[in-house]
Amino acid sequence: MAGSGTTLVECKLLHRNGIGIDINPNAVQLSKKALNFEFETPSNQEVYQGDVRNLSQFADNSIDLICTHPPYLNLVTYSNGKIEGDLSNITSPQKFCDEIELGINEMFRVLKPDHFCAILIGDTRKAQHYVPLSHFVLQKFLQNAFILKEEIIKGQHNCTFSKRWLTRAKEYKFYLIMHEHLFVFRKPRTRENLSRVRWSMIPEGADSVVK
Ligand SMILES: C[S@@+](CC[C@H](N)C(=O)[O-])C[C@H]1O[C@@H](n2cnc3c(N)ncnc32)[C@H](O)[C@@H]1O
Repeated sequence: MAGSGTTLVECKLLHRNGIGIDINPNAVQLSKKALNFEFETPSNQEVYQGDVRNLSQFADNSIDLICTHPPYLNLVTYSNGKIEGDLSNITSPQKFCDEIELGINEMFRVLKPDHFCAILIGDTRKAQHYVPLSHFVLQKFLQNAFILKEEIIKGQHNCTFSKRWLTRAKEYKFYLIMHEHLFVFRKPRTRENLSRVRWSMIPEGADSVVK
């Protein structure tokens, strides 16, 4: 879910190797373009078209760090319904969570134990009511054996979409959503004693995966 490649650009500037994946070929092209600048670094950044729900090109326990940024349901539609598997085509939070759960399982599989997976995700509104999408997704990560290490709130003001929502917010009397959640999860070590971190996880989630 590399989008226009912001994370990969940061990888390059920080001399870190990086692999970006996005289901949309336009995003892949945008990322390649964004990465095409002169900067002396021994590191390497690559970007592929692919689906987060199937990371079969990557071996188990092979990735050092995952930074991901999914669509927030269909708040912004990246392919206008034209690309099958694009999570931004989904309108139902339940269906969104079911699909992203497949990606969560894949991210868990490829991440090295005791390493981190960070996901930036925001909430949305439907029928003038708050939809806590980030909380639903958090729950899915915990149910799938990740442990919550940090929650960082990213404030955001004056973004492109604020103007579009402002009139409706005034008319229908609701607040603009001006924050996103950056959840940082840790994959437990094999046979790790989890009692110390039991309040940051769902015990049955870990039981079902960590043997
Ligand atoms: C919020 S944007 C990412 C923005 C990114 N942080 C950037 O720097 O532009 C979400 C991205 O997820 C991609 N996406 C949606 N469904 C996907 C899937 N099943 N697998 C991989 N990428 C997907 C979309 O094409 C879109 O580019």
